Amino acid sequence: MRVIGLISGTSVDGIDAALVELDGQGYDLTVSFIQGLAYPYPESLRQQILALCAGEAIALDHLAALDDAVAETFATAAQALIAQAGPADLIASHGQTVFHRPVGRPARPDQGPTRLAYTMQLGRGVAIAQHTGLPTVSNFRQADIEAGGEGAPLAPIVDLCLLSHPTERRCVQNLGGIGNVAYLPAWNRQDSAPKVLGWDTGPANSLIDIAVHSLSAGALTYDVDGAWAAQGTPCIPLVNRWLAHPYFTQPPPKSTGRELFGWEFFEQCRQDAQGEGLAPQDLVATLTEFTAASVAHEYRTFLPALPDRVLVCGGGSQNPVLMARLQARLPETVVQTTDAVGVSASYKEAIAFAVLGYWYRQGFPGNLPTVTGASRSVILGHGNDIAPPR
Ligand SMILES: Nc1ncnc2c1ncn2[C@@H]1O[C@H](COP(=O)(O)OP(=O)(O)O)[C@@H](O)[C@H]1O
Ligand SMILES: [Mg+2]
Repeated sequence: MRVIGLISGTSVDGIDAALVELDGQGYDLTVSFIQGLAYPYPESLRQQILALCAGEAIALDHLAALDDAVAETFATAAQALIAQAGPADLIASHGQTVFHRPVGRPARPDQGPTRLAYTMQLGRGVAIAQHTGLPTVSNFRQADIEAGGEGAPLAPIVDLCLLSHPTERRCVQNLGGIGNVAYLPAWNRQDSAPKVLGWDTGPANSLIDIAVHSLSAGALTYDVDGAWAAQGTPCIPLVNRWLAHPYFTQPPPKSTGRELFGWEFFEQCRQDAQGEGLAPQDLVATLTEFTAASVAHEYRTFLPALPDRVLVCGGGSQNPVLMARLQARLPETVVQTTDAVGVSASYKEAIAFAVLGYWYRQGFPGNLPTVTGASRSVILGHGNDIAPPR
């Protein structure tokens, strides 16, 4: 079956679309990546999404219109990929996260902890199905949340299938807006599946992106090839101060988003940098070091053993300074991109959602309770099988 996986993450940079040919049943899977496409958001749509993520108030009719505009853009991304790479049988769309409240976080500051996570992705599947005429699976996080889980991260089970090794312990580290890890013990496929761990490690590019955008007065949206970080010097006392954030002492399962590592956090970083007299490039270098340090800190604190190899994916894998700092913080292990073992680092997340959509069709559970904290394995996704009449 030819499946298109679609995702836009917390960076809100645009939609990653991957066309994948899938065969097999459950974990016994063959995955051939046919082609990927990065489809940027129109700037005005991106600004509306970012404003919503930043907590700006929105009227419900505007929210509904935004939801459908996002769906239309996702559908256009899928159609652009089909035009280049040929037809698809199914679309599996993660959508655009605009809000994520983990398990235990109070719904409002004056209230007690909640037992259910809350997550909201825009780009409803039914609208994608209508635009493309293709059956569409979406809303992947909901069933895991209903089972008491964080609803995140969802990629680790797919990482196990695509990237585990018979004798090596591996970490798959996604560096999107937020960082997340999948810890894959060595797995010989004749044996039953090992205990995979996974959680959000903290910020990846979110703070770097905000810094570069703000310090370039809006001219740049990210630190292209780590150019700013390469010109600066990281301020280690600040890195250590920021690592004292309570998120880094909270044991997994845990998940986070721009709610914790977004504008508010950056504002504090900016003030701290001013206090230390840092130049803009030094602040970007310090935030880059902070991302690398937080990943290494999370591994050392919460993994049963350090991995033999770290395989990095997501946009952060394209930042050579971030990759070098991660290797420097983890000298005992090899740090590479997933490309080094044949899985596209740019499209691995989109490929993962294509697999989850395929498993939805098979009725195969897609969450890992050891990762999300859910009480049981559940089938992930909501199907929109019949495109409604136009
Ligand atoms: N060439 C590059 N140099 C530095 N950073 C990059 C590069 N390409 C992508 N990125 C970073 O990756 C981010 C996008 O990563 P992505 O995996 O799409 O994240 P998300 O899943 O949050 O959308 C960009 O916002 C940028 O920070
Ligand atoms: Mg992205």
